[in-house]
Amino acid sequence: MSINKQELVLALPKGRVFDDLLPLLEGTEFAIKDNPKNTRKLLLNTKSKYVRVLLIRGWDVPTYVTSGAANLGIVGKDILLEKESEEYIELLDLGIGQCRLSLAGKKNLLEGSTRMKIATKYPKSSIRFMESIGIQSEIIYLHGSQEIAPALNLSDAIIDLVDSGNTLKENGLYEIQVIREISTRLIANKAALKTKSSIVQEIKEVLS
Ligand code: PRP
Repeated sequence: MSINKQELVLALPKGRVFDDLLPLLEGTEFAIKDNPKNTRKLLLNTKSKYVRVLLIRGWDVPTYVTSGAANLGIVGKDILLEKESEEYIELLDLGIGQCRLSLAGKKNLLEGSTRMKIATKYPKSSIRFMESIGIQSEIIYLHGSQEIAPALNLSDAIIDLVDSGNTLKENGLYEIQVIREISTRLIANKAALKTKSSIVQEIKEVLS
C-alpha cells in the first residue's frame, strides 16, 4: 500500500474527537468509506480518490504532519501547545472538543505555596504556567488519570483537561485556575499548503 503524489493524507485522532468528526464528514465527498469499527486498517479510503484518512493517536498527529507523512491533521490545542513546531500551520478552529486546561487541587491550594508537585501529561504548558504565577514546580509525568495523584500524595496538584468537572469533583479536587480554553484544530503541513492548496481548501470548507 502506498500513497501517490496527488493524494492527500488527513490524520485524525482516535476516540471522542473522531466520533464528533464522523458526522461532519458524512454526506460529503470526504466521507470515510471503510467502517472504522469493522477494520483494523489505519489508512482508510474516503469517497474522494484524492483523500485518505489516517487513524492514529492525537499525540502522534503533530509528528505525522510536521514530517509531511500526513498533509493535514486534526488535533486538540492542548497537544499543539506541547508540540509547537515551525512546520505546520493552524488553519481552523473546528469548534468541537471544547474544554479547558486547568490547575486543580485542594480548595486553598495557592495559599502560601512557593513550591508544588504537579501531576500532568502537559509538562511544557505546566512549567510555563507555574512560572507565570511565580510558583516553582516539580513535574510528575503521567499518561492519564492524574486526578487521583493528590489523594495518594503523589502530587500536590494536577494540570489537566476539564470538561464537565465531574472527574475533579468525584476525586475531591477543585478547579483552581483555568490556564486556557481548548478546542480541536485543523493543522496543515507547510509544504502541502503550497502543493495541494485546492484540495486543502475544499477540506477546510467542509470542516468549517
Ligand atoms: C479527560 C481529562 C479528564 C476528563 C475531564 O480524560 O483528562 O480526566 O476527561 O472530563 P470531565 O471534566 O467531564 O470529567 P479522558 O476521559 O479523555 O481520558 P484520559 O485520562 O485518557 O485523558
